[in-house]
Amino acid sequence: MEDSHLMHSAWQTRANAHAPYSQFQVGAAVETCDGKVFSGCNVENLSFGLTICAERVAIFSAVAAGHRDFSRIVVVADTDQPISPCGACRQVMAEFSIPEVILANRHQQLRFTLEELLPRASTGILNR
Ligand code: THU
Repeated sequence: MEDSHLMHSAWQTRANAHAPYSQFQVGAAVETCDGKVFSGCNVENLSFGLTICAERVAIFSAVAAGHRDFSRIVVVADTDQPISPCGACRQVMAEFSIPEVILANRHQQLRFTLEELLPRASTGILNR
């Protein structure tokens, strides 16, 4: 699948972000190995800790629809530098071994492996 399709989906879903506290809208789109796309936006809450990032919304939607094998995820925001996922989202990406992570703003797309973003994600936990 073209990057542009995934990117478009992430930007489109970003428009639905519920971000009244930060005013910072984020979109994400994850591609399954069989070519489907699930997208997400950040959803904030007055009780700040309940806020969920766009990446996790996208991944959890896919899992809820029965998908666990992913080829890549795109994350977009209207920032000067391409956005960088939080630690919790990196750990969730690691849970599903998403091999490629594309981080973008309106002008630039950076590609990372999960190992670059979260080295040794499962080492030593539960003896793995
Ligand atoms: N946020 C995301 O949705 N994804 C990221 O990669 C970084 C941060 C959200 C969480 C919160 O709603 C807002 O952006 C500010 O941190």
